[in-house]
Amino acid sequence: MDKLVIEGGYKLKGEVTISGAKNALLPILAATVLTDEPCIIRHCPVLRDTNTMIKLLRSLGKAVEFNQGVIKVTSQSDCNCFADYKLVSTMRASFCVLGPLIAKYKKARVSLPGGCVIGVRPVDLHLKGLRALGADIEIEEGYCVAKTKNLKGAHIYLGGEYGSSVLATDNVMMAACLAKGTTIIEAAACEPEVVDLAECLIKMGARIRGHGTPIIEIEGVKRLKGFEHTIIPDRIEAGTFTIAALITKGDILIKNANPRHMMSVLDKLKESGAKIQVGSQSLRVKANSHIRPINVTTLPYPGFPTDMQAQIMALMAVTSGISVITEKIYPDRFMHVAELNRMGAHIQREGPHAIVEGVKQLSGAPVMASDLRASAALVLAGLVAKGRTTVSRIYHLERGYENMEDKLSGLGAKIWREKE
Ligand code: UD1
Repeated sequence: MDKLVIEGGYKLKGEVTISGAKNALLPILAATVLTDEPCIIRHCPVLRDTNTMIKLLRSLGKAVEFNQGVIKVTSQSDCNCFADYKLVSTMRASFCVLGPLIAKYKKARVSLPGGCVIGVRPVDLHLKGLRALGADIEIEEGYCVAKTKNLKGAHIYLGGEYGSSVLATDNVMMAACLAKGTTIIEAAACEPEVVDLAECLIKMGARIRGHGTPIIEIEGVKRLKGFEHTIIPDRIEAGTFTIAALITKGDILIKNANPRHMMSVLDKLKESGAKIQVGSQSLRVKANSHIRPINVTTLPYPGFPTDMQAQIMALMAVTSGISVITEKIYPDRFMHVAELNRMGAHIQREGPHAIVEGVKQLSGAPVMASDLRASAALVLAGLVAKGRTTVSRIYHLERGYENMEDKLSGLGAKIWREKE
């Protein structure tokens, strides 16, 4: 296993290019199950999660090639409609093959994903939506065993205790594309990644309206065709590099970003005093202003993303004054608090709130990554801490950030990989 070593205290300067969005790519890969025709996807990030989804597609009988950011999926053999526990338990997005399998093959045996460090993470909304379309789903030995004679369009309310669900919306929307008649999903997730999937499905011949709003209408079609699609830029990676510039008081140009997908993050950073020049596909972050504490509450899109909560906490940890960070999507997503405190931060957790009292200086320490975005927060803290920080278990980081240490090194950070 590798660890990352960071010598803190270097200002980041230069240009960085943002990769394609993991959370858009994974469901789009699942959508390839809906057709027998070839599918070509461009701007795909090389990530552990990308490889997991490719393995899953291959195990289902697809042939998949991945070269220089382009994934080509073709049908090779009969689909066995089986998604193994090993692949689904390491990555929840694998569960998104359930809807496409039921819609195209009328049967599926897909492992339940189980919980993870950021919380219980149920799949009740996925099952509710698919059952409403006419899927008969039983839970047997940890697997969802599903069958149907024919899916039929339905009017489905998909809101849960914590608001809308991104992957449940994806799963149900994909299945509804091949259902007979019209489906209306209410309380649908509005995330740009859901919109990217919908745009891709439309290229496949699906009839979808209202994506990007809480009410999506899908008129089922008989078959779907192959497609070519370019993945949208990763708004969470762009947000992470924006904070990297601010936390190190650097000056960086972030290319291939889509600022329209980042309004809540940019607005909060503006409130904190950050000066960010917004281009049509870029951001210039020049940290020459004083950063003030801010209160942040995570919410479904267009609210502040939970996937940026740990990173903004790292910034507030070194911002003089008190900030309150409230997590409304995953109330237990605070594993990074104890690790940041090991680096000298003053953060107290009170239920779904973290009260952050900014300190002048963090100090480098050995810390442990617990999940993808928590890892990013520890790297950000390491960039500004005095001395050396080692972040172990970086396989979490590799799940969602393409070449993070190379991109940071290119900006002047002192960061390298070592064997544990
Ligand atoms: C997706 C993202 C993840 C992000 C999350 C929230 C991908 C691959 N992952 O995950 O990075 O952190 O959105 O923006 O796109 N819930 C239920 N029942 C369900 C499903 C979800 O109660 O059936 C709850 C969850 O526990 C959570 C909330 O709904 O509290 C939102 O989760 P959801 O949007 O489903 O997250 P994912 O789609 O799994």
